[in-house]
Amino acid sequence: MLYPLPAVLVSVADREGRPNVLTVAWAGTVCSTPPMVSISVRPERYSYHCIEETGEFVINLTTAKLACAADYCGVKSGRDVDKFAQMKLTPCASKKVKVPGIAESPVSLECKVRQILPLGSHTMFVAEVVAVSVDEAYMDENGRFHLEKADLLAYSHGVYYRLGEPIGKFGYSVEKKQRSGRKAQGDRKTDSGKK
Ligand SMILES: Cc1cc2nc3c(=O)[nH]c(=O)nc-3n(C[C@H](O)[C@H](O)[C@H](O)COP(=O)(O)O)c2cc1C
Repeated sequence: MLYPLPAVLVSVADREGRPNVLTVAWAGTVCSTPPMVSISVRPERYSYHCIEETGEFVINLTTAKLACAADYCGVKSGRDVDKFAQMKLTPCASKKVKVPGIAESPVSLECKVRQILPLGSHTMFVAEVVAVSVDEAYMDENGRFHLEKADLLAYSHGVYYRLGEPIGKFGYSVEKKQRSGRKAQGDRKTDSGKK
């Protein structure tokens, strides 16, 4: 019942370096320092053994444009099809792991598995993010990254959604109200978004 979930494309590779990709909704940020994420994967997935063997994967964020690929990669298995080829996804070399990322994704998080937690139906891979690649198209002239322009994909109860309109930013509930058209002191603070 937790919502919304990301529907990310997780790229993996087998021992011979052949890449595959599966869709994962049970993914999350679990630590800031060191930067850690988790994905929960059923052991029967073809990709499961790739992750177990290499200890690496790449989380590629998805956009509305990638919704069809995200669905396809979540219903077809790498045992039967080459999902990169079928969905015209472009594997791109990663910086710190052998597993390739996906060029069409706005953000790719290169991950090294640090802990494996068998939980029941799913096994959780807790991994450190060792490198991040972002699509330069979303960088402005000041080097600020505009993820909000990427048209990110969300998933809730079996349905894919675009993210909706922003209704507030981090800390806005305690910021001072604007006075005579000029922003109050607290308003000028930049949003770190840090938790
Ligand atoms: C939106 C969506 C989210 C999914 N989330 C997960 C998940 O969190 N964990 C998981 O093990 N499988 C998940 N799946 C299913 C796998 O992506 C699917 O079984 C895929 O075919 C496995 O590919 P593989 O056999 O090539 O590894 C999801 C599928 C979809 C469509």
